[in-house]
Amino acid sequence: MPDWVADEQRYVFQNYGRQPVVIERGAGARAWDTDGNEYLDFVGGLAVNALGHAHPVVAEAVAEQAKKLIHTSNLYYTTPMIELAKLLVENSCLDRVFFCNSGTEAIEAAIKLARRWGHDTRDGAYGVIAFNDGFHGRSMGALAATGTERYRAPFAPLAPGFTHVNWNDMAAVKAATDANTVAVLIEPIQGEAGVNMPDPGFFKELRAWCDEKGLLLILDEIQTGIGRTGTLWAYQQEDIEPDIMCLAKGLAGGVPIGAILAREEIAAHLVKGDHGTTFGASPLATAAGLATMRYLIDNDVPAQAMKASEHLQARLRAMEDSIPAVTEVRGRGMLLAISLDRDCSAEIIDECRQRGLLVNNVRPNAIRFMPPLNVTGDEIDRACDILEEAIKMVTAEIPK
Ligand SMILES: Cc1ncc(COP(=O)(O)O)c(C=O)c1O
Repeated sequence: MPDWVADEQRYVFQNYGRQPVVIERGAGARAWDTDGNEYLDFVGGLAVNALGHAHPVVAEAVAEQAKKLIHTSNLYYTTPMIELAKLLVENSCLDRVFFCNSGTEAIEAAIKLARRWGHDTRDGAYGVIAFNDGFHGRSMGALAATGTERYRAPFAPLAPGFTHVNWNDMAAVKAATDANTVAVLIEPIQGEAGVNMPDPGFFKELRAWCDEKGLLLILDEIQTGIGRTGTLWAYQQEDIEPDIMCLAKGLAGGVPIGAILAREEIAAHLVKGDHGTTFGASPLATAAGLATMRYLIDNDVPAQAMKASEHLQARLRAMEDSIPAVTEVRGRGMLLAISLDRDCSAEIIDECRQRGLLVNNVRPNAIRFMPPLNVTGDEIDRACDILEEAIKMVTAEIPK
């Protein structure tokens, strides 16, 4: 047997902190490594595997499309991308879709669209207000929008025109707005920051401010979209509508894809030649997206996620009540996290993995849960039994 970990360390860029496990295959919320060990996968490919691993509907759509046409280019029309765009428009508040290949690319497209719109309609306004601790990707534009200094500092200078304010701080948004401001870019829930929740009413106030000042509200639903928070889009739970929405992660059930959706009068400003990508809207990715989204909508999978969330939250809250080290449970749907009273999440996820559960140490003192939206009650119970044992063990050993 090759030593996969040693080979990775020899041949691959060392820019990721990988867990020492070589995942070979999966089924639903379960995954197996090359030694045949089974895991409950509550990382879900970082909120990508909306329907779990190897869902037959997604697998068959990919296989069938691969036999017909994997790629042709945007010089031509293809049917899966048109059907997926129609489905997204019919099931959202927005009117048009642009397809790309990742969340980062969706953010880049949204920034360019907002600036194009500012160029055409707002005397060249280009400023974007984003949020401290927010995460939007790692390319030079998306990184400029990302509000975490340690990601940004080594790559300065970044694209100009971005201002960061504190999450939930409406006064700071107002103070940061000037004649050059064209848009506010925000996640409905800050996922990578540790599942930070918006204050009740914050998004309504933000929407009203954008309307008052003529700013575009760009929602980064890359992590929260596709049913992750228990409704198809997280904005539905805030009772607002964005002007532009960025998608990726779960959209094609695991196949790389990104997209932005926008209102008609905004989308109209991105004209021929303004933007594009060779792989964007590929028949393979959009066929996977069409199969994923159809299944998700026809079977009301977001509602299943909402129900499963109640179960998972109840189990996590029971831990909060019974284990002093667990200080908070937060999140919505299948995007949940717990906080700990000390920096021990790395040790806890190690213990979990050794007991057959994959979870994510999103912060040194927080663990994030992003299982498939269709995870079962039995899987939640087994995962929580393992988690509880791991937390108790580690927190007994590691003092505050
Ligand atoms: C909210 C949010 N925006 C953007 C991104 C970047 O997406 P990608 O990694 O697909 O480029 C992520 C990735 O985690 C994300 O969570």
